[in-house]
Amino acid sequence: MCGIVGYAGPAGSISDVSERPLSVVLEGLRRLEYRGYDSAGVAVVAPGASQVSSRKKAGKLSNLVELLAAEPVPVATAAIGHTRWATHGGPTDANAHPHLADDGKLAVIHNGIIENFAALRDEFIAEGVRFLSQTDTEVAAHLLAREYRSSGDLAAAMRATAQLLEGTFTLLAVHSDLPGTVVGARHDSPLVVGLGQGENFLGSDVAAFVSETRVALELGQDQVVTITADEVVVTDFEGRIVTPTTFTVDWDASAAEKGGFRTFMDKEIHDQPQAVAETLLGRTDAAGRLTLDELRIDESVLRAVDKIVVIACGTAAYAGHVAKYAIEHWCRIPVEVELAHEFRYRDPVLSEKTLVVAITQSGETMDTLMAVRHAREQGARVLSIVNTHGSTIPRESDAVLYTHAGPEIAVASTKAFLAQITATYLLGLYLAQVRGTKFPDEIAEVLTELKAMPAKIQRVIDNGERVRVIARWMDSRSVLFLGRHVGFPVAMEGALKLKELAYIHAEGFAAGEIKHGPIALVEPGLPVFVIVPSPRSRDSLHSKVISNIQEIRARGARTLVIAEEGDEDVLPYADEVFWVPQTPTLLAPLVTVVPLQIFACELASARGLDVDQPRNLAKSVTVE
Ligand code: M6R
Repeated sequence: MCGIVGYAGPAGSISDVSERPLSVVLEGLRRLEYRGYDSAGVAVVAPGASQVSSRKKAGKLSNLVELLAAEPVPVATAAIGHTRWATHGGPTDANAHPHLADDGKLAVIHNGIIENFAALRDEFIAEGVRFLSQTDTEVAAHLLAREYRSSGDLAAAMRATAQLLEGTFTLLAVHSDLPGTVVGARHDSPLVVGLGQGENFLGSDVAAFVSETRVALELGQDQVVTITADEVVVTDFEGRIVTPTTFTVDWDASAAEKGGFRTFMDKEIHDQPQAVAETLLGRTDAAGRLTLDELRIDESVLRAVDKIVVIACGTAAYAGHVAKYAIEHWCRIPVEVELAHEFRYRDPVLSEKTLVVAITQSGETMDTLMAVRHAREQGARVLSIVNTHGSTIPRESDAVLYTHAGPEIAVASTKAFLAQITATYLLGLYLAQVRGTKFPDEIAEVLTELKAMPAKIQRVIDNGERVRVIARWMDSRSVLFLGRHVGFPVAMEGALKLKELAYIHAEGFAAGEIKHGPIALVEPGLPVFVIVPSPRSRDSLHSKVISNIQEIRARGARTLVIAEEGDEDVLPYADEVFWVPQTPTLLAPLVTVVPLQIFACELASARGLDVDQPRNLAKSVTVE
């Protein structure tokens, strides 16, 4: 939540929004806007100026750009920018960042929550300091200014401030005494450094500066960074110099553009065959054995695992539910799936034989991070499945398996979901290989099926027109989704997509559960999506779901059925059928969820809603 950008480098020559520091920061904010879009603001430091110049505006970034056109800021050599997801204080101009110290010489932006802000604010108020916002951030500006007045060193002042704050924070600050400098601090919130030629960058994630440089530094927890045009200095909170790890971003700026699609979500749905293919790439050796090189957990440890607990939130948790079916089936290890924010509060039973699998696109979700820390404190091994390089969760895990979905900009997750499911399949097969619960030829067979999935996903996308037509005409205020086995998490994901994109009441149920209560919701005309398993699935799963369709149809539901090509059994009971290619049962979520994504995206677009930035949401949830 909240996007942060910082820049130090040469000044431009004209004082408008094309001036380099400001334009770099505005471009960074455009790319980070998915992290929050309640307000946006910038502060710049012009050489020789006695104060920083700041502009900020409630609403989307475009409002700030209009303000800057009307009220330009001076030519600068350092700039910071912020796009906000509101926590403390509503989305107003006054609560927008940056926040300035009393003397107007220092500006601060913040991502996170300062938990002890009320006590600190009361102290300042008692000293006569006037607060202009309801945010928790403003105390950081006053603290930093006070510390700077006493030390005359902005990095030292940042370290001192960081020690006084409780909660989570990334802070960036500029001061008019230091025209070419930006200082940042990181504590449980993300911050990465981009290394340029004669200029340097800071960002909540690499998207902030990937159009300028793909060489980046991973900052660790509790570190302070100072950037100027020519130098990056990193220390810990005690002031000891730290040498951070450098990494290269493996995608370029065009991957974070719409590429001719109406919306990022449209594009990301179309990216899915590639996201799955890339996630599968390079995972086997010449003999066809799985080699998950990034895994840093010894095979003997994996052989000893007696329980797996998947922790994740939202869509990533639904990927975890799919993983449960696959891993239990292939490896015969019990798998629990738990929402990360519930995990540590129930005092879970963990041991050194527990493998905790954290699934996260951003690698920054605070609920998941806290669950990871708790698991490790209890002695469990943590393996994270992550899409974003340089993020916090892989750094704090024992092992990591990266998905290669590329940047996901739309707030609602699509291609990251498919890549996460794919990575969990790889993990399951790898565990089966290490533990010998599947023969090598059985594993090879599943891998061959997996490699065929990108083409199948492409077919579902290519055949998406009928689901689009249905979406455009949909006028119901409520939609249900039913599935069994791996179709159950797909049903929940379909409902989540509809809720977050179209603001329509939607529920996903296990199809067998509906007769235990939810069937009371069914009334004539109610649209109900049903994900039908393959007729080749085991234990009459297929016929049970057909019976469930009949039960709801008998009560007037309008049945929208997702079924395998050639499954004639569904025809008598389906008002609409969306066909997906024949696929082994466990791999089916990779195709069955796609019509549901297209449906939600099209319905929201048809209603004129902002598909990429739905109301109240942010891409990266970095508060608990
Ligand atoms: O970055 P993460 O994968 O950890 O994010 C988890 C959830 O916040 C995320 O999947 C969320 O549910 C999406 N908006 C769903 O579309």
